[in-house]
Amino acid sequence: MSSPTPRVAIYPGSFDPLTNGHVDIIERGARIFDAIIVAILANVEKTPLFSENERIAIIRDVFKGHQNVQVEAFSGLLVEYALHKNATVLVRGLRAVSDFEYEFQMALMNRHLAPGLETVFMMPDEKYTYISSRLIKEVFTLGGEITGLVPPVVEEKLLAKQKTKKKA
Ligand SMILES: Nc1ncnc2c1ncn2[C@@H]1O[C@H](COP(=O)(O)OP(=O)(O)OP(=O)(O)O)[C@@H](O)[C@H]1O
Ligand SMILES: [Mg+2]
Repeated sequence: MSSPTPRVAIYPGSFDPLTNGHVDIIERGARIFDAIIVAILANVEKTPLFSENERIAIIRDVFKGHQNVQVEAFSGLLVEYALHKNATVLVRGLRAVSDFEYEFQMALMNRHLAPGLETVFMMPDEKYTYISSRLIKEVFTLGGEITGLVPPVVEEKLLAKQKTKKKA
């Protein structure tokens, strides 16, 4: 029996930039929930590499074939945004033990703030468990190979940024 109201999940993060680890989690979420909203945290880092609009455009481009994947930016309290979107689930990815403590703390705080909102953790394919946006930026800046770790469009945008930086 299908549920009468669509089950909407929110996948929050900074996605600066989107990695194949994120893509893996979004695809898993899209298979489970009626809709998954990739919610980009606005202004967390003072100087993100990619602007909010660039990050939105990248994720929309990667998921243009997925009807039930939406992309938005949000600011303020995550639980308020989620309730406003009629979401009942928060999706988070778990890479390793190192993610666990922070994620556990956040999940319980969010439950305290909004008891009806459930946090669901998903593990990516093991080949993506070591990827983070921070590491991608670091490796790319130092000239390392990132092909296969991020969607091709992200690699293109990183190269374009590097070129404009060199010219400046
Ligand atoms: N490779 C990955 N596999 C599974 N989950 C991931 C992966 N990378 C990030 N996540 C999860 O996605 C969510 C959003 O993460 P976030 O935007 O902070 O990405 P990040 O790669 O950790 O970026 P940063 O390095 O800037 O912290 C978090 O729940 C995080 O644990
Ligand atoms: Mg992180």
